[in-house]
Amino acid sequence: MKQIQPHIITEGDRTYTLGNLQGKKITYDFESILEYLVDKGQQEYGTKFRIHKEDRDILFKLCNYFIKDETNCRRLNIDLKKGILLSGPVGCGKTSLMKLLRHIVPHQKPYKIIPARNVVFGFNHLGYKTIEDYGDMNYVCFDDLGIEPLGRHYGKDCNVMGEVILSRYELFLNHKVKTHITTNLNAQELEERYGNRVRSRMRELFNLIAFDSATKDKRR
Ligand SMILES: Nc1ncnc2c1ncn2[C@@H]1O[C@H](COP(=O)(O)OP(=O)(O)OP(=O)(O)O)[C@@H](O)[C@H]1O
Ligand SMILES: [Mg+2]
Repeated sequence: MKQIQPHIITEGDRTYTLGNLQGKKITYDFESILEYLVDKGQQEYGTKFRIHKEDRDILFKLCNYFIKDETNCRRLNIDLKKGILLSGPVGCGKTSLMKLLRHIVPHQKPYKIIPARNVVFGFNHLGYKTIEDYGDMNYVCFDDLGIEPLGRHYGKDCNVMGEVILSRYELFLNHKVKTHITTNLNAQELEERYGNRVRSRMRELFNLIAFDSATKDKRR
């Protein structure tokens, strides 16, 4: 077994205990997770990284999802079988969080983070094979859905990410493979951009976790 105590994480000379073992079950402690996330966040994004009070509810949801706390998730209306659609305004911290949260569950298979733009660039270059590849890929998080340009391959236009999401939906139904997404768009804008067929499937694919539209841009 690779890691018998996945709730105990060592970074350099520091050890973080994110919860305690009761029998075979880990009971995680939210404050301990946050403490680890701050240190890991500072390591990755610089010393200004901190937990903003207004982000705590979102973090609580995301942490419970990733540690698979069934009781809290049921209460929060989060379905552990679905992926996460993390939406929020520019710079609120979506990408950083999706990158960081992988570290609190080192025993789980990590997801790749792929900018939606890169998928389109791949399509422009290689055509429909790209849609097949991303539609078939294991656990992934598509970053920044909605700002990617329209795809164009040999003079043919294609709403590439819309097609990829349709494929991911099939993958979810047939093989229970999850997908995560970060986006600046709200539900209405997603529907305008990808159409109601995609939007309807997205409801089944994702738990929506949304930053308040007034959340400040952390780049400033
Ligand atoms: N909790 C935080 N405390 C301080 N700085 C942060 C925090 N989260 C993110 N940042 C910083 O804010 C900037 C924006 O973060 P990030 O790229 O994660 O936002 P985003 O929501 O993905 O933005 P976009 O919508 O443009 O993709 C980055 O420079 C990041 O280092
Ligand atoms: Mg981002």
